[in-house]
Amino acid sequence: MNTDLRTDPLATRHARRPTSTKPAILDEIHRAITEGGCTLTEIAWEQQRLHEARRWSVVELISNIDLERLSEGDRVRIWNAGRAELTTKPGADRVARLADAECRRWQGEDDVVAAIMQACGTWSRYWNEEEAHHEVVFNQLSSFLGLPAIPDVEFIEYRKVFPDDEMLRTLTLLVISEIVAAVNYGQCAMLAEDPGLRALFKQVAADEIQHMGYFIAFAKGLVDSGAYQAKEAFAVAHFFIREGGDLYGVKRDRIEERDTHVNWWDHLEHGDVSTPDAIERKQTLIFSALKRITGISVSSVEEVEDTWMDLVGC
Ligand SMILES: [Fe+2]
Ligand SMILES: [Fe+2]
Repeated sequence: MNTDLRTDPLATRHARRPTSTKPAILDEIHRAITEGGCTLTEIAWEQQRLHEARRWSVVELISNIDLERLSEGDRVRIWNAGRAELTTKPGADRVARLADAECRRWQGEDDVVAAIMQACGTWSRYWNEEEAHHEVVFNQLSSFLGLPAIPDVEFIEYRKVFPDDEMLRTLTLLVISEIVAAVNYGQCAMLAEDPGLRALFKQVAADEIQHMGYFIAFAKGLVDSGAYQAKEAFAVAHFFIREGGDLYGVKRDRIEERDTHVNWWDHLEHGDVSTPDAIERKQTLIFSALKRITGISVSSVEEVEDTWMDLVGC
């Protein structure tokens, strides 16, 4: 497929010259399948091209960092990032399993939804691999810096798989998780003085933005199909951005005790180091994601709540 298919899903198969265009996220996946006749093999090709185009080396980026130049703040941020990234593998494992189960559930009932689910499960292998880079780079840096090691029992605890939820809700939650991660890494990059460390944080933040884009595309595909309701995306967004919601992370007055899985931002340990949490930036990105997923514009926490209430018929 070429870029035409992304903007014009009616582009003919013969017109497609897959290697002639810049790889990109297929953000009109429902139309690409229904109107463009796009197959899962073609979608996998696009995913592979983008993944390959974005590869980077953990070994190389670590070697560009001057460990002696890192501040106490850098060290704390690296240590927390390593812990946080440990929880991404169970997230990706869960999406792979859930997407395949949902694909089979929809087969025969709505084959386009089944294909979107399979495309999502297929992409999760790239997501998992990219998150592996993040986890290993920060934990290895922590180790080089002599920061407290992660005991195996804790490593295993962080691998606990999240409980299952409806697929649009799951994808929206993942959109928000990627936004939070991307903004946090952006803050870390801004505060880092060492050019090597700054480049690493920027690279990871760019990966998280790309992941956000994929989750938005799959979520939009489900809403476009008519099989999933926009209200579910708004319900999850509201849960995060409401006053005292999960977006406020570790700074909330009250944090729920969970024994099902580890929610990494409940566990951040900052000591005397403060990192701005850039709540407004996160909110703006969440509003924009909601618009891209559902087509509905919102620009404040109140509007998210009102829209959610309207959609559920309150
Ligand atoms: Fe990550
Ligand atoms: Fe990510």
